[in-house]
Amino acid sequence: MPSFNEALTFIVSQGPDRLLRILRSTRNRDRLDRPFLATLRKRLAEPPRTPGRLLRAAPVQDGACFDFEQAALEIIFLAEDMVRVSWKPGLEPLPYALVRAPDFAAGIETRPPGVKATLQGDKLTSPLLEVQVAPDGALGFWRGGLLLHQQVAPVFRGEGPAAAWTSQARLRPEEALFGLGEHVRSFNLRGSTHRLWNTDPGGRYGPAADPIYMPLPVIMGLHSQGSYLTFYENPFPADFSCTPADLEAGEYQLQFEGGMLRYYFITGAPDRLLERYTGLTGRPGLPPLWSLGYHQSRWGYKSAADIRQVAAGFREHNLPLSAISMDIDYMRGYRVFTVDPERFPDLPGLARELADHGIHLVTIIDPGVKVDPSYEVYRQGLEIGAFCKEPDGRLAQGVVWPGWAAFPDFTDPAARDWWAGLYQPLFEAGISGIWHDMNEPPSFSAWGETRLSLAVKHNLEGSGGDHHQAHNLYGFLMNRAGWEGQRRLRPERRPWLISRSGWAGQQRYAWNWTADTEASWKGLRMTLRTILGTSLSGQPYNGPDIGGFSGNPEAELYLRWFQLATFLPFFRTHSATGTARREPWVYGETYTTIIREHLRLRYRLLPYLYTLAWQASQSGAPLVRPLFWAQPENPALWEIDDAFLLGDQLLVAPAWEPGQIKRTVLLPPGQWVDLWTDTCYSGGTEVTLPVSLERLPVLVRLGSVLPLGKDTPPEIGDQENTTLHLHVYPPRPEELATEGEILAGELFSDAGDGYDTGRVDRFFLRHTAQGWEVTRQEQAHYPFPFSEVRVYWHTDISPITRPSQDGLKPASVPSRRWEDLSQPLQSD
Ligand code: GLC
Repeated sequence: MPSFNEALTFIVSQGPDRLLRILRSTRNRDRLDRPFLATLRKRLAEPPRTPGRLLRAAPVQDGACFDFEQAALEIIFLAEDMVRVSWKPGLEPLPYALVRAPDFAAGIETRPPGVKATLQGDKLTSPLLEVQVAPDGALGFWRGGLLLHQQVAPVFRGEGPAAAWTSQARLRPEEALFGLGEHVRSFNLRGSTHRLWNTDPGGRYGPAADPIYMPLPVIMGLHSQGSYLTFYENPFPADFSCTPADLEAGEYQLQFEGGMLRYYFITGAPDRLLERYTGLTGRPGLPPLWSLGYHQSRWGYKSAADIRQVAAGFREHNLPLSAISMDIDYMRGYRVFTVDPERFPDLPGLARELADHGIHLVTIIDPGVKVDPSYEVYRQGLEIGAFCKEPDGRLAQGVVWPGWAAFPDFTDPAARDWWAGLYQPLFEAGISGIWHDMNEPPSFSAWGETRLSLAVKHNLEGSGGDHHQAHNLYGFLMNRAGWEGQRRLRPERRPWLISRSGWAGQQRYAWNWTADTEASWKGLRMTLRTILGTSLSGQPYNGPDIGGFSGNPEAELYLRWFQLATFLPFFRTHSATGTARREPWVYGETYTTIIREHLRLRYRLLPYLYTLAWQASQSGAPLVRPLFWAQPENPALWEIDDAFLLGDQLLVAPAWEPGQIKRTVLLPPGQWVDLWTDTCYSGGTEVTLPVSLERLPVLVRLGSVLPLGKDTPPEIGDQENTTLHLHVYPPRPEELATEGEILAGELFSDAGDGYDTGRVDRFFLRHTAQGWEVTRQEQAHYPFPFSEVRVYWHTDISPITRPSQDGLKPASVPSRRWEDLSQPLQSD
């Protein structure tokens, strides 16, 4: 609920014309909603019906069908550790979330032939998983004699295609639940409620907000018997509620407002769960290397001159930069796919000029198309019938930045195809990446939810439907159109898209960012749990508006946000219109120097980050992982949402409070070494780490080879004559489980964009009588891009407090040629 002051500010900021439009639009929305909501509410208020008694069961290929008195159940094994459960009646989901052939053929399996499912009485078994069907429709999922998950008999309301189901699961007292996409209230979902309805929380949100832009129907469960993931393939709005932990009769409920009840149930450790889930819903392709660098943004840089000045400021302050985002101010009156000719008279020239300095331009695109008969995009859209309509066939309109706007129906393949072609002039002008915003989609409202009417019509691949069904898919399908446009218009380059909203499978098309957070310490704190939650829901690319979107962070808060984001996939400063300027030098010294060091560190980390990006493209593993990823069976790690793993070699423990000088963290098993000082900490215990203004605690896992690069943006193809710095952290010899080598790190390299092949170099460590040896094995279809390799042995891991000039421990072996590494290389 906005405060009186906020409401007043909103009214004043909108101006009388806009306000009038908003009032009219809201009234129209309510008019259309009224009959729709009356039917919906009536249906949802019906007494729930159960499936009734089980009448018969029959085997089908890879599974079985079960007829109940009032419902039908189908269970299909897609793999030995994954089943698909479908309860009817109800509308079948369009398979938007799923990757289908030919992607499956490229090694992502969903239904390998010959998953042997045997039906015996009420039990359906594969070699790994057993599903027990009770006579009332309750399901038990067992693995190795352990009960992993228990679904109570689901209930439904409504008839035939209008049926709406509620899924209910029993939980163990200690069970922890994670995922549900993007949300802020808590990391562990026990004891919380969430609505699954993509929502713009309105320009500024804090830790109490719910829902926000991209909730996802994905739940990961961990308990003493194992772990599992459930993906509900149902885009209708839903309400999730879950009892707190430690209740003997714990349960969660997920009440959908439509659609059949279909879910995929997967078992295994978290890495396996995400591998399977992203095998089903797709993995992100490799991003262009530049996108992992630092981005600067602001609403708004109002002209080309403004942007030039920002770029010059970065040069002047010796701060490396990879991208500048252009918010809505670059457009002509907020008309998407236009460029204001006065403020941006020569966009191609600007893009070229920035490219000379290694800076890429990213432009924002919103879905709302200004209603203006003299505007080409609007005219074309009308002509081909690409926009959403009201039930009586009139154009559905909402109010967003340009005033009255029409909304492309991205559930219509023809509309997607048309939209995909609209990016052409931007690419011709040299734009490198696209930023999709306002795609939940909101329509500014004077009261109630900021959305279009639920009665608005959608094509839904020709099957026809309404906004109630299509709303949660809207941003996802806009991203699909944008991604396909990039592939089509610039086939030689990798698409790069960042989006505010999306749905399951989002990771195939776009990154996400946490958008309009308040600029407060609480806003900073909630950033990480949001990112951990989306990571566990299949989206490996996320990051915040550094400093928070709304408000003016003090220097220390900005710095802490910056330091955190140095270790997150998306690394961008952005802020709302009317806020104080937030280029990284505005806080003056000592902050600029610390920020410069973090920017350099980010660029040095690129070989490691890029390797993680490659791993995500292969296995779906997120870059940012909760600490329990390293030891899922340890309940003490489940709740931790104030520290994280970046890949499996780095642990980051951010600072969350003003003036913080130390913090504690419970370390996962193994030995962990301070990146800055080589101080060693034992895993499995809670340790206290020093925090300074200059540095967050960052630890490296012993047994790692950490590949670092140069400290400036890597321009494509210019890696020749550069040095790879290999930081070797051998494990304690007594910790080697077996004689012989351990795989201690990987390095993926390629051209940084495009689709040529790459190479993987794997580093092995072995302990011999002479000391440590590091060797490499290559899988190479691409020439090794570094001309020199320096190896730094971190064998002397005692408390060393004097760091080298570059912040890391100095090399004990200063320089080796790469070729030497195919022979064992020993520590001295
Ligand atoms: C939305 C976005 C924000 C952007 C603004 C103007 O609030 O979340 O990032 O700056 O719109 O386009």
